[in-house]
Amino acid sequence: MVNDFVLALDQLDQLPASAGLRQRSYQLLDARAGEAVLDVGCGTGLAVAELAALGVAAAGLDPDPDMIEVAGDRYPKSEFRLGSAESLPYADGSLRGYRADKVLHALPDPAAAVAEAARVLAPGGRIVLLGQDWEGIAVDSDDPVLTRRVMAALSEGIPQPLAARRYRNLLLDTGFRDVAVEGHLAVFTDIDVMMHLLRRTSNDPEGPSWLAGQRDRAKRDRFFGMAPILIASGTR
Ligand SMILES: C[S@@+](CC[C@H](N)C(=O)[O-])C[C@H]1O[C@@H](n2cnc3c(N)ncnc32)[C@H](O)[C@@H]1O
Repeated sequence: MVNDFVLALDQLDQLPASAGLRQRSYQLLDARAGEAVLDVGCGTGLAVAELAALGVAAAGLDPDPDMIEVAGDRYPKSEFRLGSAESLPYADGSLRGYRADKVLHALPDPAAAVAEAARVLAPGGRIVLLGQDWEGIAVDSDDPVLTRRVMAALSEGIPQPLAARRYRNLLLDTGFRDVAVEGHLAVFTDIDVMMHLLRRTSNDPEGPSWLAGQRDRAKRDRFFGMAPILIASGTR
């Protein structure tokens, strides 16, 4: 089912910067033609389709039946299955690549998911984790003190909002080698692309009026937001 979340992911996917981040993640996976790569938390399946176009034997996994349905409808030649990062339906050492984009923050225990990734990857297999650091997300405003408080509401209800800044340590602690991390800054001048995140500011009592002020800025083309994106990789 194409719901608001799917539409928000579509909007994000269409940004040139998002395309660049996905391409970088494929480079870091370093998968050869025919090698088995799993995109965990695959959402609408775009990365699986792009990897398949590179000749990789890519599959997607997601616990949300709506996502699996949308991915299957959009990319009927690709394999998508229901499942979760904590319990992957794959044999030990059966995969050459593992990718999780904007997923680990949604898990209560990211370390358990990374341990599960290590189990299914063959020796020499590659892991790539990418996502935003929720507490690094910032928006320009005339009242920076209020903005800091309102922005803190973004992380409320997110199981692990700081997961991205911990990717490197998670990989090291799980025994991955060649661990590397790089940072990218996503810049947003279109409030609509950030709305899926900014809606969460209404968790703060002053959030709705703050957001109305931001919408007013956007009407005058004065909206400015940014989010740090981290990409970590390692070898099993
Ligand atoms: C923000 S979306 C990102 C989707 C996709 N990776 C992308 O970059 O567009 C997060 C995805 O993680 C999935 N997810 C949530 N909990 C999960 C879990 N325990 N295991 C695997 N995926 C999970 C959600 O269903 C959702 O599709």
